Amino acid sequence: MDPLKVALLGCGSVGTQVARLLSTHAEELAQRVGAPLELTGIAVRTLEADRGPDIDPSLLTTDAPELVKRADLVIELIGGIEPARTLILQALAGGASVVTGNKALLAEHGPQLYEAAERGGVELYYEAAVAGAIPLLRPIRESLAGDRVRRVLGIVNGTTNYVLDKMDTAGLDFSAAVAQAQSLGYAEADPTADVEGYDAAAKAAILASLAFHTRVHAADVHREGITQVSAGDVASAKQIGAVVKLLAICERTVAADGAEGVSVRVHPAMIPASHPLASVRGAFNAVFVEAEAAGELMFYGQGAGGLPTASAVLGDLVSAARNRVGGSRGPGESTYAQLPLRPMGEV
Ligand code: HSE
Repeated sequence: MDPLKVALLGCGSVGTQVARLLSTHAEELAQRVGAPLELTGIAVRTLEADRGPDIDPSLLTTDAPELVKRADLVIELIGGIEPARTLILQALAGGASVVTGNKALLAEHGPQLYEAAERGGVELYYEAAVAGAIPLLRPIRESLAGDRVRRVLGIVNGTTNYVLDKMDTAGLDFSAAVAQAQSLGYAEADPTADVEGYDAAAKAAILASLAFHTRVHAADVHREGITQVSAGDVASAKQIGAVVKLLAICERTVAADGAEGVSVRVHPAMIPASHPLASVRGAFNAVFVEAEAAGELMFYGQGAGGLPTASAVLGDLVSAARNRVGGSRGPGESTYAQLPLRPMGEV
């Protein structure tokens, strides 16, 4: 089978890991997909920057539209609205399936992108947009498609969880904790999107849209970040056996007249130290989904960082690539079952 041409747009911490895994896992990926995945180029803003040993400089280009034109599969990891939106629309119109981690774009222009994918007869995948490595969107969209979700509640921003955690466990003040998050690569040089709750609000909008089969934009989400949370607030919470967490809360609501609605909000909240969310440390995320028939489900894992998020991107890429090769296989046996089974005593 001819290789599938993969275009990577963006070469930040996630893009770099995606490129690396595409190369180091090439053989396994080819077996799982049924065709080799060929990374044909990486679109970047400037060719000057040093990208490290994982990036083959000959793949770099500043001509993203040209790269997209020649691709079967496009991975968009530029972030923000433009040029990401135009490039994704170009890819979908040109017959390429797209994998993106762009929560801001999906929360703002999701319907336009879904329609473009439908028109082009291709697919748009975005598991990496919410909660990093945690498989969360697919379970909500697919596994719970026959159920009725009542509530989605949790920690969906790793940076703010890291900051609040350090204020709690190391007694740092807000600025010192943000500086530490920046030094570890969690927070951006400009941490506004995380600390003001914009990132969590975009994720909450995506979660609510999927969970309640409706349209929620980021601007519809009540948003309060953590910039007003002082070291004193965190210490007071500790004294009464609680911790402060930035929560995203998406709920079905029923008004007095019986009319149903949806409430979506992001704000800091004090939660008892005994609650499972209180023990979510560092840049981890945890999300509870409560559904009528399924009851309560909990999803936990690394919510930020290049490598964990790259895992979600590659999962989507394999799905998109498989569908191109042979149509959706759906759940079933793995296509890669060649490892020998060892008797217990040998392990
Ligand atoms: N900045 C985000 C976070 C990671 O800290 O959770 C990307 O969604």
